[in-house]
Amino acid sequence: MTEYLTRHHDVVAPVLAFDTDVLADRAEGIWIYDEAGNRYADFACGTAVANLGHNHPAVVAAARAQMDRFIHAGCVFRYESIIRLAEKLRTITPEGIDKFGFANSGAEAVEATVKIAKYITGRQGVITMRGAFHGRTMGSVAYTTSSARYRDGYHPILGSVFVTPYPRPYRWGKTEEESTELALDELNYKFKHEVTPKNIAAFLVEPMQGEGGYYPAPPAFLEALREIADHHGIMLIFDEVQSGFGRTAEWFASEHYAVDPDIIAMGKGIANGLPLSSYGASAEVLDRWPVGAHGTTFGGNPVSCAAAGAVIDTMEGLLPHARELSAHAFERLNKLAVVHDSIGEVRGLGLMIGIELVKDLESREPDADAMAFVSKYALERELIVINCGPDGNVIRFIPPLVTGIDELDTAIDTIDGALTEYETS
Ligand SMILES: Cc1ncc(COP(=O)(O)O)c(C=O)c1O
Repeated sequence: MTEYLTRHHDVVAPVLAFDTDVLADRAEGIWIYDEAGNRYADFACGTAVANLGHNHPAVVAAARAQMDRFIHAGCVFRYESIIRLAEKLRTITPEGIDKFGFANSGAEAVEATVKIAKYITGRQGVITMRGAFHGRTMGSVAYTTSSARYRDGYHPILGSVFVTPYPRPYRWGKTEEESTELALDELNYKFKHEVTPKNIAAFLVEPMQGEGGYYPAPPAFLEALREIADHHGIMLIFDEVQSGFGRTAEWFASEHYAVDPDIIAMGKGIANGLPLSSYGASAEVLDRWPVGAHGTTFGGNPVSCAAAGAVIDTMEGLLPHARELSAHAFERLNKLAVVHDSIGEVRGLGLMIGIELVKDLESREPDADAMAFVSKYALERELIVINCGPDGNVIRFIPPLVTGIDELDTAIDTIDGALTEYETS
């Protein structure tokens, strides 16, 4: 084992899972370089974070300028970068979201959204979707069912959390319409047999499930949730931690739907790598959450907020390119799906694309070995791709928005080559 890995294993807790053993020396744009001068195209974007590519100059400059002035405020004094960021967020978030709080991680932002819903409705129940990923703190792990392993050893999990199916047409072998109907039937059974709607503070939902396998919600499902929420006084929370900030070639995945949430959670790409997350709701809602009912020491750090401001300014101009990349990627990947029997389905929104690998097109049995083969083959050819889904068999295809068409083609060629070799081995 190389020296740094030995030292790493000696002192870093093994619970922290790393996708590769690459020892990064520096990173720029889509590339990560190691000390030996090898480079890797990071199509994992640091797990869906560096959407603008690593060390984007505008983001670095904004963070550096803030660092030169002061780096911490800790809610003791006020500062421009947080005000300016909230003003910008108001212009890009869904209709009706106009005030914002800040935290450090996606899990914290999600927990804040649930606290808001509970506080405002005076109700304690939360309905989450099977296959969802909302984080790994004790609160958010209660809402996370993308894999039971995230909950192993931590029971009892937080109470009054009810899990309902999220439509998965491919896995269920049903049409989008049938899957939506089935999921809504199950929700109705829940209301009939387990908990009445008057106990429910919120529906917590990813408009496109991430970790759970890259499943975009069928529009009719989100529309129905909106309608049921309105009817019963339930708040609709969208977790856009992974699907936000250009990942779907729009600011947020919810723009692909005619549905606006009451509360939104944001993180990951918000500051392109500096630690920051945010939650937003209407002024009417957030003005009823009293001073001190929630808070954080580091959340909304001045440097992270300055960086996030630069992310928003920069990303606006990149969204058209992201849409072009998306159209090109879908065209090429759909062609690959015709050629490769190991590709069961290509699905997604914008540049949040899942390529589901299966052992057999008929049985649709997940093929985690194929995924492991693709990752290894790609890494040997300067490309980092990671997986998602409870079976670890979905290629999480998330190029940085700054990727060139040629670079995208090279990455797709690499996946093509990997699958050809896997299928003929
Ligand atoms: C949709 C979603 N919500 C919440 C989280 C948790 O974010 P964090 O790891 O920053 O706590 C993630 C992380 O992958 C996510 O994808």
